[in-house]
Amino acid sequence: MTPPKPGSLVSSETPAEARRETLTVIDNRTGKQYELAIKDDTIRPLDLRKIKTHDFEFGMMSYDPAFGNTASCISKITFIDGDKGILRYRGYSIEELAEKSNYLETAYLILHGELPTPAQLTDWGYHITHHTFIHESIKKFLDGFHYDAHPMGMLISTVAALSTFYPDARDIFDPESRRKQTYRLIGKMPTLAAFAYRHSLGMPFVYPDNELSYCGNFLNMLFRTTELKYRPNPTLERALDILFILHADHEQNCSSTAMRGVGSSHVDPYSATAAATAALYGPLHGGANEQVLRMLLEIGSVGNVPAYVKRVKAGEKLLMGFGHRVYKNYDPRAKIVKHIAYEVFDVMGRNPLIDIALECERIALEDDYFITRRLYPNVDFYTGLIYQSMGFPMTMFPVLFAIPRTSGWIAQWQEMLLDPEQKISRPRQIYSGYDLRGYVTLDHRS
Ligand code: CMC
Repeated sequence: MTPPKPGSLVSSETPAEARRETLTVIDNRTGKQYELAIKDDTIRPLDLRKIKTHDFEFGMMSYDPAFGNTASCISKITFIDGDKGILRYRGYSIEELAEKSNYLETAYLILHGELPTPAQLTDWGYHITHHTFIHESIKKFLDGFHYDAHPMGMLISTVAALSTFYPDARDIFDPESRRKQTYRLIGKMPTLAAFAYRHSLGMPFVYPDNELSYCGNFLNMLFRTTELKYRPNPTLERALDILFILHADHEQNCSSTAMRGVGSSHVDPYSATAAATAALYGPLHGGANEQVLRMLLEIGSVGNVPAYVKRVKAGEKLLMGFGHRVYKNYDPRAKIVKHIAYEVFDVMGRNPLIDIALECERIALEDDYFITRRLYPNVDFYTGLIYQSMGFPMTMFPVLFAIPRTSGWIAQWQEMLLDPEQKISRPRQIYSGYDLRGYVTLDHRS
């Protein structure tokens, strides 16, 4: 009989009486058979360590670059079914939250596991609102940046700097301290972001207005000029609030993994949030919304779309805002975002780039390249168009992702800290470098 190819699966029906929650592995190098426990459709790679050809060996490991098929934690926060295009926070569908909730309530839900009672919501809103001011010294850091510094760079640096103002944040196992840092982080992120934006314009900073909503106050700090009282446009304020709900968490993505990984060293939450923000900055993650807009500008007109898609298919370019590690169907967030875009256009005027985006989507959804790879628009495909219409420069787009994601990061961090199975994050490697070799003195090197 021809042996199966490595990586291929051989299956035969197990009689019902013999069925149990285990996986039998035969090591064809030794003929030994191992039984590995299955729980939640998962095996524990540490169980593989007993598989070895000789007793002195380290034992088998699993190799999974980029964690394509490895669960790193057990989480109760966010559920995604990528094939069906489902996203839920704590069991509530993203569609229902976007319709009925607001960002602060959703952040409470994500962090506490339950929707707040009216009294809890008032208390939560009060504490977030009363932690929006930042230490005046932070303004000195911002002053040190060039006028054209990317606001994500400024945000990463200033979030990290917050840890120097709040040494109590190092008490990560004190629930009271964690609660306080949570108020501070969620309260101060919009202020840091708005101050970074105002710095890039050379405009004076606008201090928080406690009478406004979370998003209304953010718009105030960004856009207020000479008015005595800033009154946000209710449609834009609500649109931003929904976008914040959609971005609040997304389970074990690159930035949450950074938050958990860095947090697992027991550093304070500001330093871990700075690491998560840095992870989000990349163009394959939260920086994609900025790149989508740059791509649409590069395409320039609806007529140029086919030629651009041809370059994407030839591997010269990525169609930014398309594809997802988990979603192999339309990203449920993208559907909601597309709808919001038209509501914003009703107030601000139609963004002409929408026609290029729609044409990209139309062509891609009918093209074999995208169909076979199951590439659909993701959340970032349409958000940039909304942000641009609202008056944000492109560099602010990833910042608008980072602010609401802060609640998800803190929830992931807290869950990691309180999980007795978690330890300092430390993957293994397969070493493929040189074996031991002797040092060559400088005069003998060519
Ligand atoms: N345009 C063209 N081809 C693509 C794209 C794209 N946007 N995304 C994936 N592919 C191709 C990829 O080249 C590969 O083809 P092949 O099998 O011939 O090598 C195949 O599809 C599978 O892609 P992958 O790179 O193995 O998928 P991944 O899970 O590693 O990457 C991704 C996921 C989001 C990084 C990727 O789809 C991508 O780079 N998209 C563009 C950037 C983007 O929009 N990012 C935002 C993600 S959503 C917001 C967030 O949560 O961060």
